[in-house]
Amino acid sequence: MKRIFIYVLFVCLVASAIGYILYRYKKYNAENWSYKASDNLQEINIISIQDLERQAQEIIEAGAFDYIAGGAETETTLRRNISAFDDIDIYPRVLQGVDSPDLQTSVLGIDISLPVIVAPAAAHGLAHESAEAGTARGAAESGTIMTISNYASSTLEEIAQAGDGAPQWFQLYLSKDDAFNRKIVREAEALGMRAIVLTVDAPVGGNRWRDAKNDFRFPLALPNVAPAGGQTKGQGIGAIFSSAQNDFSMNTVRYVKSWTRLPVIVKGIQHPDDAEEAINAGADAIWVSNHGGRQLDGGPASIEVLSEIAIRVNKRVPIIFDSGIRSGQHIFKAIASGADVVAIGRPVIYALALGGWQGVVSLFDYLKADLSRVMWLAGTQTVEDIKNADIRPKCMMVRCVE
Ligand code: FNR
Ligand code: LAC
Repeated sequence: MKRIFIYVLFVCLVASAIGYILYRYKKYNAENWSYKASDNLQEINIISIQDLERQAQEIIEAGAFDYIAGGAETETTLRRNISAFDDIDIYPRVLQGVDSPDLQTSVLGIDISLPVIVAPAAAHGLAHESAEAGTARGAAESGTIMTISNYASSTLEEIAQAGDGAPQWFQLYLSKDDAFNRKIVREAEALGMRAIVLTVDAPVGGNRWRDAKNDFRFPLALPNVAPAGGQTKGQGIGAIFSSAQNDFSMNTVRYVKSWTRLPVIVKGIQHPDDAEEAINAGADAIWVSNHGGRQLDGGPASIEVLSEIAIRVNKRVPIIFDSGIRSGQHIFKAIASGADVVAIGRPVIYALALGGWQGVVSLFDYLKADLSRVMWLAGTQTVEDIKNADIRPKCMMVRCVE
């Protein structure tokens, strides 16, 4: 009996020791995970952005792809961001004498070659080894604005250098560490960034089922995150978000305005009353977005809230729009609904993975050609003309009653 007891005790001790060693080994691997992103550098042939996503999925590591492509919970809002564009019809004009539409426009005094800019998105290093520096070069060569995420995987200096003087905006996730907030904004100002994009729709991370299932953790450092100085390797997005502030109000906007000389754009607006409050607090522009369906699932598509917000804003400040833009037709519908420019998140990351900075240029070339064709077919010569285009909610009947 005594022998059996000693034997069982021995087996338990050995099992515990093996368990502990495996636990340490797994933890070590999570912290020291060597991650290999694409190093492709080539122009890419884009048939559609849906196809671009399929191709990118083949070369981005599965957990990272899910982090990028995924949204919150059932992903209903994520899907609706795209499908809701089908509920808007463009009524084309064909006798307008349009010839080679002009895509150029400007926002906050910055001239851009098309009304599409890069949305801030974390960790481009998951997609390509050049990370945000690659995206910055692609955006600069395409003549548009790069918005740099606070959770970028390149340093601000590397990104500014790669942009080579092209316009860049810095997106701020207000940290709980106030000295750090001021330090990072000072750095962005010193590097010549032209606006602060204050994201207010992420007081807490959305419940992203794909990431939970994959136990997704960043395999690389995010060097601009406080307070750990970028020691984010091995951490999930929830842990990173928890170092940020989570009680946004009008005072938050006033507060940031009080210590930066740059224009402040408030990102994540989905309600006309919030647009009003942000403008009253001094916002220099409104960024209508539901974060690409990554935060609150079960809300409307971003395009569904745009026109009501635009009516309330009434041209007092520019409106930037994102979430679900996948084609020239979508860009057209968003501008006709009241946006001044639109931004794209996931498509940029996919193009970066497939072709590095050259892939990003291919993406903007694709969007330029696609938007130009839609403008021509719809009878609009300029971006200003799109704002007056005839779009209507989809007709469900043969004859529609107003
Ligand atoms: C984002 N987004 C985002 N927004 C932000 O303000 N700061 C950030 O760091 C990030 N990070 C981020 C990572 C990834 C992988 C994605 C896909 C998105 C949201 C982003 O700015 C934008 O609102 C959406 O991506 C727009 O939707 P589409 O274009 O991806 O459909
Ligand atoms: C995201 C954050 C970083 O959507 O904004 O993952």
